[in-house]
Amino acid sequence: MIFPSTLLSLWFSIPAECGERSIYEERTQHSRIIGGQEAKVGEFPWQVSIQERNKHFCGGSILSEWWILSAAHCFYSGEFLPTELRVALGTNDLTNLPTELQVISVVWHKDFERLTMDSDIALLLLASPITFSGLTVPICMPPQPAPSRWHECWVAGWGMTNSVDKNSMTTDLMKVPMLIIDWEECSQIFPKLTQNMLCAAYENENESYDACQGDSGGPLVCNIKPGSKWYQVGIISWGRGCGQKGFPGIYTLLENYTLWIEKVAEVEGKPLNTRAIRAPVKKKLGERTQASKCPALGSPQDWLLPCLLSCTLLRALSN
Ligand SMILES: *[C@@H]1O[C@H](CO)[C@@H](O)[C@H](O)[C@H]1NC(C)=O
Ligand SMILES: *[C@@H]1O[C@H](CO)[C@@H](O)[C@H](O)[C@H]1NC(C)=O
Repeated sequence: MIFPSTLLSLWFSIPAECGERSIYEERTQHSRIIGGQEAKVGEFPWQVSIQERNKHFCGGSILSEWWILSAAHCFYSGEFLPTELRVALGTNDLTNLPTELQVISVVWHKDFERLTMDSDIALLLLASPITFSGLTVPICMPPQPAPSRWHECWVAGWGMTNSVDKNSMTTDLMKVPMLIIDWEECSQIFPKLTQNMLCAAYENENESYDACQGDSGGPLVCNIKPGSKWYQVGIISWGRGCGQKGFPGIYTLLENYTLWIEKVAEVEGKPLNTRAIRAPVKKKLGERTQASKCPALGSPQDWLLPCLLSCTLLRALSN
């Protein structure tokens, strides 16, 4: 329940940064409870519900004011037109939607294969931009190279909470903690695992947690060190059943697709970070050579914003 006074504070906090969750941090410090349970207000402000005729069918995440990231298999059947899709955001409660935005196009990866589920990634371009608030925040893309270890991983979704009961979709956003499983170990369980996938699971002696049908397309988010900002590491893709002991869930490995995402966003005329376009205009001419300098592949990716686009282009050419 949101009371008027807290509503006010929502509108006054203007998070421009990805992966930050001001509202959640303000209210619920030190509450780390392990288990499949309801997410708190503002805990996953990048989480969206993708709907068709007011029915939730897949999850997604906010990348920028124009772009939603999701899984290709959610859209591949071609059953609906992009314009029939809505993206609901800024809430955990699907019975009360403050914002629903129309989609104008769905771009899925050309290498997506339904049989192998390789490259299970899609981008949705919105018809109107998202207004960011404390309840709608973009998630950060993984840096490159990605850290060798991620911390505090979570998935959230409105999918089935009971793997055999199709009516167990929830209207409240649920969350489960996740551990990333070693790729080699996971490929023993799933011989068809590709290099573009990652496995994650959480099991204790009594229960195992997993994403399930209806959660697809939603983000696996982690941080680099506890208490720091949140990055999307994977996209919920597939599994064997849900929450079966010994069978982790499979995610699209996002670090392999960050350049693809940047390229698509740019080609469609809505680059991920619009500041990147405006910035060079203000710059003095003399700085131009510097702005077009690219960080070496494999260097820590604290890219200068003005540099981002020219680098993407250069890399695209050198691919
Ligand atoms: C597992 O279940 C037992 C019995 O219900 C309980 O005592 C124990 O604390 C549980 N363990 C965990 C890690 O939840
Ligand atoms: C994807 O990432 C993995 C792990 O970093 C790497 O081994 C693999 O070559 C990458 N694949 C592509 C197509 O970039």
